[in-house]
Amino acid sequence: MKVLGILGSPRVGGNSDILLNQALAGAKEMGAKVEKIILSRKKISGCLDCTKCNETGICVIRDDMLEIHQKILKSDAVIHSVPLYFWAMTSQMKAYLDRWCAFFDGSWRWHKAYLPKMKGKRIGLMTVCGDPNVHTADPIVHSFRETCKFSGLKLFPVVQASAAGKGEIERNEKAKKEAYGLGRKIATS
Ligand SMILES: Cc1cc2nc3c(=O)[nH]c(=O)nc-3n(C[C@H](O)[C@H](O)[C@H](O)COP(=O)(O)O)c2cc1C
Repeated sequence: MKVLGILGSPRVGGNSDILLNQALAGAKEMGAKVEKIILSRKKISGCLDCTKCNETGICVIRDDMLEIHQKILKSDAVIHSVPLYFWAMTSQMKAYLDRWCAFFDGSWRWHKAYLPKMKGKRIGLMTVCGDPNVHTADPIVHSFRETCKFSGLKLFPVVQASAAGKGEIERNEKAKKEAYGLGRKIATS
């Protein structure tokens, strides 16, 4: 069992990172091999909609996303953790998600080369926002939920928390417990 963690915040050691570390610790406790990718430390350009990948399954942009594509394919589960920026996911996470385009054919079905590896892959999502109402980050949930629905990925119950200052979430035992639980569950379900 391999669990890949994707950090969408550029604030390493911040709230989303703390939650992701919790989730990966939970997965590890259940025997999973875990790896974390910090998107802000990678070079990931936006999708060009050139449609070349529809045929080849390979993106023409030669940047760090090519390696991340391979890591996603090899993982049983991918857990994302991302803060809300202006009522949306961060630009790092959006560029990453748009580049999932390479996994699909021209009819938005899994590219035949990837179908066996992608179908039913387990997806985790955790959101953090400064607003005390955790549901202010629901636009991010909507984006992931619809992506999973149309492509047949299994989205696990989303963890949502509020925190503003860097590391403030360290004091939120409930959110940390939920993140840990997500990691445990995704590694065993
Ligand atoms: C550019 C930017 C935009 C933000 N926009 C929002 C927002 O629309 N709503 C909100 O509740 N919090 C917003 N925040 C606050 C962050 O979501 C919050 O500080 C969060 O804890 C950051 O998580 P991190 O420590 O993982 O980076 C914004 C922060 C930044 C830097």
